Amino acid sequence: MFRRLLLAAVASIAATGFAHAAEIAISCGAVGTELELCKSGAEAWAKKTGNTVKVVSTPNETNERLALYQQLLSAGASDIDVFQIDVIWPGILGSHFIDLAPYSKGAEKDHFPAIVANNTVDGKLVAMPWFTDAGVLYYRKDLLEKYGAQPPTTWQELTDTAAKIQEGERKAGNDKFWGFVFQGKAYEGLTCDALEWIDSFGGGTIIDEKGAITVNNPKAAAALTLAASWIGKIVPDGVLNYGEEEARGVFQSGNAAFMRNWPYAWALGNGADSPIKGKIGVAALPKGATDGKNTGTLGGWQLAVSKYSKSPEIAADLVMYLASLDVQKSRAIKGSFEPTIVALYQDKEVLTDVPFFGSLQSTFLNAVARPSKITGANYNKVSNAFWNAVHNVLSGKAKAEDSLAQLESELKRIKRSHW
Ligand code: GLC
Repeated sequence: MFRRLLLAAVASIAATGFAHAAEIAISCGAVGTELELCKSGAEAWAKKTGNTVKVVSTPNETNERLALYQQLLSAGASDIDVFQIDVIWPGILGSHFIDLAPYSKGAEKDHFPAIVANNTVDGKLVAMPWFTDAGVLYYRKDLLEKYGAQPPTTWQELTDTAAKIQEGERKAGNDKFWGFVFQGKAYEGLTCDALEWIDSFGGGTIIDEKGAITVNNPKAAAALTLAASWIGKIVPDGVLNYGEEEARGVFQSGNAAFMRNWPYAWALGNGADSPIKGKIGVAALPKGATDGKNTGTLGGWQLAVSKYSKSPEIAADLVMYLASLDVQKSRAIKGSFEPTIVALYQDKEVLTDVPFFGSLQSTFLNAVARPSKITGANYNKVSNAFWNAVHNVLSGKAKAEDSLAQLESELKRIKRSHW
């Protein structure tokens, strides 16, 4: 009997590489194709290793997801073994995750060093980079051609071109047509969009690398004033309630000339059932009207293993599998998720399927980071104050100058208690 058990155990180790098989619960995002691709990746690993996986979907809004994670982790719950975490969270959640270095066999060396550094907290690799993100400008190639326009290089040009196309398309009978859509809901996505406007005007990054509050300045005010002028004119009022998927819904159904979004929207917009398949161009986001620059906010997602997992070693194996070159390559091709492995930017298949991963390389390499490193555990409070201040300007409740002055005092208050 004992011998039989022992043989069975040895056979199972040979099949799985682990002393026992386990069920690993992984929390995945569910924006666009995220859930489907996370599921198929995790299931392929389960099949290969003899373990099982449970895929838990989480709210689309990143800050809602954070609240859920904080609840689970602060209670020390073992319900979820692997967490998909935002690039802005290592400082907030890092203490709840294991150090992955003992499991990675140095694999992190193949990833962008800046992301690995971002995911390293107190010398521990608390998460493996999975995919990166930067805001880009989507446009309708066919419509720009129809109206004799070029992809805009400044926000003012975008404003003018969007107005022209909107007017023409409405006259032609599409009364649902809008010039531009973006993420305007009061949430983390608005922080990303507004940081792009402000930084592209030369108005800084809300809080600088040393921790100084810089956001209350005339360039930032000019950027927000221009953005507020779009609402109800070239941008639907409803944008004040749009996240990524709502913006994509309008653009992909053919009802907008321009859209600000992350790379994932490319694969879906070119999907077999997309009305605008083959008609999409992608460019760097425009510069500010004055001495600005092209800016895209740095986003992206990592995979971390909970300290409270009952099977951390097996969970880490799943993380390393999902973050590997083969899986990242297939996610880039199927879902236009931007790899974090440098070598994939030389991969012909990837570049053929998602040409802007090559052509917009400098946008990706120079993406502007939100001030999450310097504000650490306080980042969410800072961002919350920022997105509310911006939302008030967009919705006409406050003038940009007043809202930024108020934001500055609020940030000072948050700073006093911590960072
Ligand atoms: C994308 C980005 C993430 C960001 C979020 C905001 O998912 O990858 O970093 O926080 O959008 O909505």
